[in-house]
Amino acid sequence: MNKVTSGIARRKLRSSEWFNDPHNPAMTALYLERYLNYGLTRGELQSGKPIIGIAQTGNDLSPCNRHHLELAQRVREGIRAAGGIAMEFPVHPIQETGKRPTAALDRNLAYLGLVEVLFSYPLDGVVLTTGCDKTTPACLMAAATVNIPAIVLSGGPMLNGWHNGERTGSGTVVWKSRERLAAGEIDYDEFMEAVASSAPSVGHCNTMGTASTMNSLAEALGMSLPGCAAIPAPYRERGQIAYATGLRAVEMVWEDLKPSDILTRQAFENAIVVNSAIGGSTNAPIHLNALARHVGVELSIDDWQSVGHSIPLLVNLQPAGVYLGEEYHRAGGVPTVVRELMAHGKIHEDALTVNGRNIGDNCRAAPAPDGDVIKTYDGPLVQDAGFLVLRGNLFDSAIMKTSVISLEFRERYLSTPGDLNAFEGRAIVFEGPEDYHHRIDDPALNIDEHCILFVRGTGPIGYPGGAEVVNMQPPAALIKRGILSLPCIGDGRQSGTSGSPSILNATPEAAANGGLALLKTGDRVRIDLNKGSADILISDAELKQRRADLEAAGGFAYPKHQTPWQELYRSTVGQQATGACIEFATRYRDIAGTVGVA
Ligand code: FES
Ligand code: MG
Repeated sequence: MNKVTSGIARRKLRSSEWFNDPHNPAMTALYLERYLNYGLTRGELQSGKPIIGIAQTGNDLSPCNRHHLELAQRVREGIRAAGGIAMEFPVHPIQETGKRPTAALDRNLAYLGLVEVLFSYPLDGVVLTTGCDKTTPACLMAAATVNIPAIVLSGGPMLNGWHNGERTGSGTVVWKSRERLAAGEIDYDEFMEAVASSAPSVGHCNTMGTASTMNSLAEALGMSLPGCAAIPAPYRERGQIAYATGLRAVEMVWEDLKPSDILTRQAFENAIVVNSAIGGSTNAPIHLNALARHVGVELSIDDWQSVGHSIPLLVNLQPAGVYLGEEYHRAGGVPTVVRELMAHGKIHEDALTVNGRNIGDNCRAAPAPDGDVIKTYDGPLVQDAGFLVLRGNLFDSAIMKTSVISLEFRERYLSTPGDLNAFEGRAIVFEGPEDYHHRIDDPALNIDEHCILFVRGTGPIGYPGGAEVVNMQPPAALIKRGILSLPCIGDGRQSGTSGSPSILNATPEAAANGGLALLKTGDRVRIDLNKGSADILISDAELKQRRADLEAAGGFAYPKHQTPWQELYRSTVGQQATGACIEFATRYRDIAGTVGVA
């Protein structure tokens, strides 16, 4: 129940510090007059109506979120109808597929910019328009730092893509088609057509990539209205939930329902469990660990394995499954997934959400799984679908998404006689994606099916932001023989739309002089999934010598900065296991209150 409808007296709002301070008429007049110049009235701004920001991530450079330019109209109407005033403002653009060198570089920049806006302007609450991969965590992290009432509005996935009678999913079609191109089955033009077919409408990626993952997790965290994440961008329900989100943002201000009330340890555990069940992206631990730090919740990379690994994969979406966003929505989306997990005691049902109810009450009456698009807990696509955390002399931690390991791959690598979950191989080391593209087909490397491909220099510092490049395809000669994947390991990330069984997000990265920096092509490497270990098989003395050599050489070299932000980013960023945050920014918590609001 909210305080407007329950008749509880309205409290003085944060925005009144700007627009209605009788003790300081000069400042009030200065703050006020310019906001009147486009037609707002004193009556509106001084009558104590909540001012709700619409953090607009849509623009022409960000096609995944561009639809928010139109949805914002429905958000405004909702805000108005509930007695609030809407003020829309831009968020620094982030487009996963458009930004060089990486879109991840800009997550912390958008975060920083949004913190500054939310803190410094007369806003009582905010609607966060999310979608493309990094836009969702950037917005959530900023709302967590400032801690004013905030609600997520996803833009929604694109409609399903189709090509030659088959579903083509964003990103996933690229990884599949490049194999067919390498094998000579299709030509350049058909490759382009297949990939273009996967983007048939406004919206973000229609696969369970990082966008659908992060928007589903925002909902699982309790930060959006139930059902919000899965509605395809062009559907009427998308405009309707935009309106409902605007309405609710105003009520949240009266209730003073803040991110810190919702983003509890229980909420994060719910999100980790949901991430396993949806087959979520390996980018999720980076973003959720960052969010947890900004809101002050203890969450470690090991929680992803201890809380999430034993959870089965329920959602049959590409890249792990076959369907796309439209079917996910029709099958019930996040509420159905949560309902099924709840029935097996895997959800903290009393975790509070933005609608003022707990997640259990929100999802208990959701449609039951259809058993096809959303599987039942007892008949899942894959058992134990969460991430494994590996460590050893190669890195302190790296993760592996086990749900995408194909049977063929398991049989080829994980059935070494005597140990079903371990393999050894000869390391082939690439210094970043450009080096990989230059040399992957070089016969001198003599790459065979017993090799492990490594890419380094691709972490947050090395390739600023961290590149999505660990899912490397084997040399064309191997693909032609039917070997479609080799084990891949790296300090970079991997697109959530890729089904590659990689070991990634290695922390510390080579550019921070982690163990990967000591590896040489030709080294034997052993991976043991039971023990969670990943090691170069060399003596301690040899390892020590290599470290001494690295130090003597001045550490691992990486390319020079191209922009001022790259330099600032590199000098402040942490490692992926702890969220790749601006480290000093994690000290700033709950800062909205520091303006002395009643
Ligand atoms: Fe924007 Fe996938 S590229 S959501
Ligand atoms: Mg991506």
